[in-house]
Amino acid sequence: MHPDSPMPPLYRATLLRLLADQVRAERVGSDLYSSWIRRAPGPKERRYLATLARDETEHWYRAICLLEELGVGLEQMRHHQSRHSYYLFSRLLIGRMTWIDILLFSFVMDHGGFFLLEDCTQSSYAPWARMAREIMKDEVSHPEMGSQFLRLAIQRQGLAPVQRRLGKWWRVALNMFGPTKAQNTELYIRLGLKFRSNEERRQAFRESCEPKIREIGLQVPKLFHQTYPFF
Ligand SMILES: [Fe+2]
Ligand SMILES: [Fe+2]
Repeated sequence: MHPDSPMPPLYRATLLRLLADQVRAERVGSDLYSSWIRRAPGPKERRYLATLARDETEHWYRAICLLEELGVGLEQMRHHQSRHSYYLFSRLLIGRMTWIDILLFSFVMDHGGFFLLEDCTQSSYAPWARMAREIMKDEVSHPEMGSQFLRLAIQRQGLAPVQRRLGKWWRVALNMFGPTKAQNTELYIRLGLKFRSNEERRQAFRESCEPKIREIGLQVPKLFHQTYPFF
């Protein structure tokens, strides 16, 4: 599908909803990283945050352009967003973050975001597939940068404060993928807008992230509830 292809109403409505969510997710990253540039503890960290902020702002902007091409302006976008509680939750968390939280956000949440975006690289909507493939090139490096500076934070402050906060972010990240059996999964796959279920994306994330958690000397947090919602 292209912007000028004849689009069945269900396809268009679903595409607009997913794109509006993409705009919002990129905005969370853009706001968070840019608000921390001035508070970074050293020059390397400041440069790292500026890179993340630039990348996420670029992704946000490009997602907006895709919606505009479909005739949806910035003002109308919020009418298309889904009511995913993750966004409300992330707003609440972002207000009370520390430097370690920022690093964990980049290490865990950005890592999860990679697997959400990966589905879009095969989107039946060609401009989105193209854009997703391009922004994936930035996204691969985001968790890497997080882990590099987490190691430094661990050297300075020890494992305990990082491990404690990882417990929180690990749960937020697992819940970000949504319920195991979601109503819309079959629709998204049928329309070619995604290719995996929430659970398959979550498993792919866990397989990739858990070894990286151990690599930097942390433990994968123990869960009290093993299925969605994780806590
Ligand atoms: Fe992004
Ligand atoms: Fe990112």
